[in-house]
Amino acid sequence: MASILDKHHILEKNATLLLVGSLLVVSIGGIVEIAPLFYLQNTIEKVEGMRPYTPLELAGRNIYIREGCYVCHSQMIRPFRDEVERYGHYSLAAESMYDHPFQWGSKRTGPDLARVGGRYSNEWHVQHLSDPRAVVPESIMPKYAFLKEQEVTVKDVGMDLKANEDVGVPYNDDMLANAEADMKAQADPNADTTALLQRYPKAKVGDFDGDPQKLTEMDALVAYLQMLGTLVDFSTYDDATGYR
Ligand code: HEC
Repeated sequence: MASILDKHHILEKNATLLLVGSLLVVSIGGIVEIAPLFYLQNTIEKVEGMRPYTPLELAGRNIYIREGCYVCHSQMIRPFRDEVERYGHYSLAAESMYDHPFQWGSKRTGPDLARVGGRYSNEWHVQHLSDPRAVVPESIMPKYAFLKEQEVTVKDVGMDLKANEDVGVPYNDDMLANAEADMKAQADPNADTTALLQRYPKAKVGDFDGDPQKLTEMDALVAYLQMLGTLVDFSTYDDATGYR
């Protein structure tokens, strides 16, 4: 043993040999870490309830990104007691599997939004986004009242669904063909939403911004906020197996 250790000086005195040796060691370590990933069926465990975003939710998500909401809000609940007690079940990888790009975020000036869906009414969101200090006096969140005045662009949504499909989100032909109609129907209190709900189970439908006539960016953003974290039914989810 001692004789092998004594020979170490050969390696230490020869820069090229040391480099080759180091590369060899790093490659073995790298292969051990990476190779198993190629043999796993799926690196993200599938979870019941996850579905692609509706066209309106997707439009809302685009506004969320455009306005930089992620600069102050994260969308990832970590598996720590303080977070789980405040925000709900910790986030699962599968819950952001259709996010391109994901919105985990790295800064929490405001609270985490991963499970904000259903926590407040639509009216609360509209009032809060229009003037945060009207409902939370100590808030430092900026006002987004203009979203209620701006009509949301409907004509690009089909291409947006297609782009997401291209990167692996399972939008089917039916969803792609009905993208514009679905987007309008979701925020129209008089629309027949049976087909929409078949395509996108658990989607929240009806007027979101308090103005049923106009389809605004506020409609889209509130539709998005109201679905966040609501797709997986945690009463039937088992932490150990992922199944009921
Ligand atoms: C400058 C930082 C900042 C930005 C940018 C910001 N927020 Fe906030 N947000 C906050 C703070 C601080 C709070 C906590 C006080 C409050 O409720 O207003 C908050 C609260 C919230 C809440 C309530 C969460 C809860 O659980 O009570 C929602 C929903 C929300 N923000 C959505 C948004 C959206 C959507 C955007 C982008 C359009 C946005 N925020 C942009 C700072 C910000």
